Amino acid sequence: MEETKKTRIAAVADIHVKESDKGKWVNCFKEASKQADVMLICGDLTDTGDEAEAQILAEELKACTIPVVGVLGNHDYEKGRHKLIRQIVQNENVHILNGESIVIANIGFAGVKGFGGGFDNHMLSMFGEGAMKAFVQEAVDEALHLDRALARLDAEYANIKKIAVLHYSPIKATVVGEPEPIFPFLGCSRLAEPLTRRQVVAAFHGHAHVGTLEGEAAGGVKVFNVAKPILVKAGYTLPFYMFEV
Ligand SMILES: [Fe+2]
Ligand SMILES: [Fe+2]
Repeated sequence: MEETKKTRIAAVADIHVKESDKGKWVNCFKEASKQADVMLICGDLTDTGDEAEAQILAEELKACTIPVVGVLGNHDYEKGRHKLIRQIVQNENVHILNGESIVIANIGFAGVKGFGGGFDNHMLSMFGEGAMKAFVQEAVDEALHLDRALARLDAEYANIKKIAVLHYSPIKATVVGEPEPIFPFLGCSRLAEPLTRRQVVAAFHGHAHVGTLEGEAAGGVKVFNVAKPILVKAGYTLPFYMFEV
């Protein structure tokens, strides 16, 4: 692949669009379209997982003239209408990934929601009651889907630069700031294994609203928690984080 100019990525998570949010995101999406080549929205697109909220977001996203790559978050699952929400938001310019990947501006984006399970030596293991095993299995499955999406990019495009789009955190460092007892529900180290193995450049996530903006997974993989409240607190008024690959 010939050396091309850098790709500018604007990223935000946890926008939690409500029915009363009509017009709230137009300026953000317009500005992102001027400043970036691609926009990431890392889950919790809607506040209560309602299709009316997804309709509002779909309208707001018309202001976004650059490609949008996103994943759903736990809030989008709240009413069991996540498939409908994905359908409403998705179009030829908006790609909501669930174990898939897409190439935009020579960068490969792989997306999964992810799940909880905890971090490092405090990660939950597959033991005990069925409910606990199902909890652990969800994180295992999400990590496998992420790995497969990244592997497919490698197989189809030699030496492609890869970005991961998640909702849950793959590392502990970017949830720090949240109460420690809830860390197991904010992300899981299992999500970090594919990032390191497939030499991902950077991973973007949200979900931990009062976590930490920047961290790093093994192998030098940059990790950014771009939850909107974190960006606002850090002074990003629009709000989106800018990253160049
Ligand atoms: Fe959220
Ligand atoms: Fe969330």
